[in-house]
Amino acid sequence: MPVTTCIFDAYGTLFDVNAAARAAAEAPGAGALAESWSRVAAQWRAKQLEYSWHRAIRGLHTDFWQVTKDALDWALEAERLDDPVLREDLLALYWELPAYREVPKVLATLKARGLATGILSNGSPDMLEGAVGSAGVETMLDAVLSVERVGVFKPAAPVYDLVGGRFGCDPEEVLFVSSNGWDVSAAAAYGFATAWVNRAGLPLDRLPGTPEHILTDLSAVPELEVF
Ligand code: LAC
Repeated sequence: MPVTTCIFDAYGTLFDVNAAARAAAEAPGAGALAESWSRVAAQWRAKQLEYSWHRAIRGLHTDFWQVTKDALDWALEAERLDDPVLREDLLALYWELPAYREVPKVLATLKARGLATGILSNGSPDMLEGAVGSAGVETMLDAVLSVERVGVFKPAAPVYDLVGGRFGCDPEEVLFVSSNGWDVSAAAAYGFATAWVNRAGLPLDRLPGTPEHILTDLSAVPELEVF
């Protein structure tokens, strides 16, 4: 069955999650963040994901914005940077994370080929609206699906069910694209065609479900032989 629908993860896949700490580090008066921003960014992201998994397993859902704030507080304390002004600056920057440079062209190409496109993300609807709006890609996406509709984070299966629910397609008609190895692994086990965007050159996750395609960025997505 040919793929009709191309679904993207948001954070780390379409939007650069390191950009908030990087931009704050480049601002005048960045202080200690100028040296430690990459550790802050990495710890912020790692804790954000860890907290999302713990909340899913323990049945203690809250929205991704709360998880993002909790993770930032941990990362700032770990780096002894717990400054309220810096915290607010980083959170404001997270609200309008830039898209990776190839994103508009990739989405426009997929739309021009008549494919349905969408986002499936842990992000809350308002966070996703902010990121999609600041990237200027609203008109290139048919749906922005947030886990808030099911009240549990990835990789719980009800999240992946949202795609069939919205587009009325079977899993094998969907190409799911994510930079998160664990997300693409769960999506492959669910039955989606998958592409892992391995920007950082990481090893394959040792989890059930193996991505069909491995890319270094999003540019080659429209050329994949699944369409
Ligand atoms: C998302 C996270 C997992 O956008 O990157 O769902």
